Amino acid sequence: MIEQFKKDVDAGLSAHPKHLSSKYFYDDIGSQIFQEIMAMPEYYLTDSEFEILSLQAKQIAQKLNFKSPFNIIELGAGDGYKTIRLLKNFIELGLEFTYIPVDISKKAIDLLLEKGAKEIPNLKVKPFVGDYFKLLSSIPNELPSLVLFLGSNIGNFKQEAAQSFLKSIQSHLKPIDKLLIGFDLQKNPITIKSAYDDPHGITRAFNMNLLHRINNELGADFRLDKFDFYCHYNPVNGEVRSYLVSLKKQDVYIKSLDKTYSFDYNELIWTELSKKYSFTEIEDLSKASNFKLVANFLDCKHYFADSLWIV
Ligand code: AVJ
Repeated sequence: MIEQFKKDVDAGLSAHPKHLSSKYFYDDIGSQIFQEIMAMPEYYLTDSEFEILSLQAKQIAQKLNFKSPFNIIELGAGDGYKTIRLLKNFIELGLEFTYIPVDISKKAIDLLLEKGAKEIPNLKVKPFVGDYFKLLSSIPNELPSLVLFLGSNIGNFKQEAAQSFLKSIQSHLKPIDKLLIGFDLQKNPITIKSAYDDPHGITRAFNMNLLHRINNELGADFRLDKFDFYCHYNPVNGEVRSYLVSLKKQDVYIKSLDKTYSFDYNELIWTELSKKYSFTEIEDLSKASNFKLVANFLDCKHYFADSLWIV
């Protein structure tokens, strides 16, 4: 774990242009800050997907059309706030299923279990702490599975990476299985910009925490007051890109790598891609990764889509 982090930080800060992966945002503090992001009025993604899962569970269940009990496998379960709505609705509709949340964070899974038990006392849960693909290759039985990959997490992947990630999920599934995957849709660019370039400085803190984390875990001497946050949305390609900006020419030493990295005045570190999709791009991605799109479930503003795919 820490070895991979070291390797990726070294590679990213040695590259031109420099980059660090947004997957490292989520230490305990980062996960806490992400909760604050989801609670911001500007961050419409959470509310939009919550609306879909709250109001359209019946339509989703109809399209699933599973005749027997099934598994619901959630990749990157997070805090489960939205998923619990869907599960509750499924239970009220009389569906029988086992919920299998998968997350690399034990803490995230524990929190989710606590919440799940409180909100849905008779929920059947088989949590899994670890790698998505380890779980997918060890699915214990022949029951149909619905795989959930919600919250626009796919937006963090570049096109090629998204395809190969989804292809390898597809290769682990049976013909009867289905995937429900969340996409943030292209919309008025001002709406998208405000969700990331937020006036509260929460997204800024989310990005700066990565430097804080490298200081703590790898013994670096990043001076947080000498870096700033910048992000922008390009409505032509649907990409939000986030960066850290070096506010002066400076050197940073990372103890556990015993190496010094030089930053130019105004040099950027690319930290995150948050891709916004068009309907055509969603359909193209489903085909390119060997799935077939069955239905898109939208919120009333058409900000977000949960897209149901078959194998
Ligand atoms: C968790 C990847 C969906 O890209 O919108 C929120 C993370 N970054 N604000 C996103 C994030 C900045 C988020 N995802």
